[in-house]
Amino acid sequence: MPITTAIFDAYGTLFDVNAAARMAASEPAHAALADHWPQIARDWRLKQLQYTWLRAVADQHCDFWQVTCDGLDWALEAAGLQDDATRARLLALYRELAAYPEVATMLSTLKSRGLNTGILSNGSPHMLTSAVNSAGLTDSLDAVLSVEDVGVFKPHARVYDMVGARFGCAKGEVLFVSSNGWDAAGAAGYGFQTAWVNRADEPVDRLHAAPHHILPDLITIPDLC
Ligand code: LAC
Repeated sequence: MPITTAIFDAYGTLFDVNAAARMAASEPAHAALADHWPQIARDWRLKQLQYTWLRAVADQHCDFWQVTCDGLDWALEAAGLQDDATRARLLALYRELAAYPEVATMLSTLKSRGLNTGILSNGSPHMLTSAVNSAGLTDSLDAVLSVEDVGVFKPHARVYDMVGARFGCAKGEVLFVSSNGWDAAGAAGYGFQTAWVNRADEPVDRLHAAPHHILPDLITIPDLC
């Protein structure tokens, strides 16, 4: 079945989630981060994601901004760096994360070939609007879908259902792209074609399904459509 619709995870896939800690650490006002930022970035992301899964299982949904703040607070305490100004700066930078360098060209290539394009993300609508606008991607995306419309985080099937509901396409017409192995696996199990962007060269997750394609970055995504 030909691909008509290319759908992207947001955080870690289009937007560089490590950019906030890396950029803050380069600023004189936050020099205390210099030795700690890689560990803080790792802990922040890991706790943020763990909290999404745990809240989904416990039926205790909150929005992604809340788990982003909670994950950061855990990471800063673990590093012994609980400072209000640093926390505020990291969160401000997270609202305007840089897109990876290949994103704009890749999306405009897909649009020029007539594909539907969209984001499907745990991110709350205000976070996604801010990131998409600051990265200048608004015109290359037909839809920005947030899990807030279904009230549960990925990889719940209700989230992946949003793509068919928005675009009226069959599951097999969708190429779902994520840098999160568990998200690519969840989408593959759901019935999408999937590409896992394995930027960190990690092993494949041992889950109920596996991604159809594994790529080092987003450059060759148009070749899969
Ligand atoms: C998202 C997270 C999982 O954007 O990266 O949905």
